[in-house]
Amino acid sequence: MNLEEQYKIIEFGDLGDERGNLVVIEGNGADIPFDIKRVFYIYGSDAEVVRGQHANRETEFLLVNVSGTSKVKVDNGLQSKVIELNRPRMGLYLPPMVWKDMYDFSGDSVLLVLASRHYDPAEYIRDYQDYLAELGKTEGRADE
Ligand code: TYD
Repeated sequence: MNLEEQYKIIEFGDLGDERGNLVVIEGNGADIPFDIKRVFYIYGSDAEVVRGQHANRETEFLLVNVSGTSKVKVDNGLQSKVIELNRPRMGLYLPPMVWKDMYDFSGDSVLLVLASRHYDPAEYIRDYQDYLAELGKTEGRADE
């Protein structure tokens, strides 16, 4: 499968006015393609750390740097792409079964993550070779 057809960059509207900006993200197809079951955010990371380094078998994610910047390297086992999250209205949608690294966090980075599922460590693949092996068994890989 072509990586460019797997992730999506979504530009959210701004309902702001003279009082400031207001960005709304509704789930279930309104703004993002899934129903939001979990929210977490990452801050206090820096330019040295690499987070993520896993794939999820089931969960879809939407990432937004609501403050500051970070980079996400998305990999589907065949292709990879680095996406810079650098504005609060920019969302990065990630489907299941892509490998992701988050890194190069600015000091003021607050990375908001919306997820389609509750946390379940059993659906994480944390070894890249295991990820490649599992991809090899899926239809997506067979379509290549
Ligand atoms: P980790 O997966 O390493 O975070 P990241 O993907 O951002 O690098 O998670 C760090 C710890 O937090 C790990 O022990 C699992 C736990 N955790 C939860 O309990 N619930 C969650 O929703 C997340 C994302 C992590």
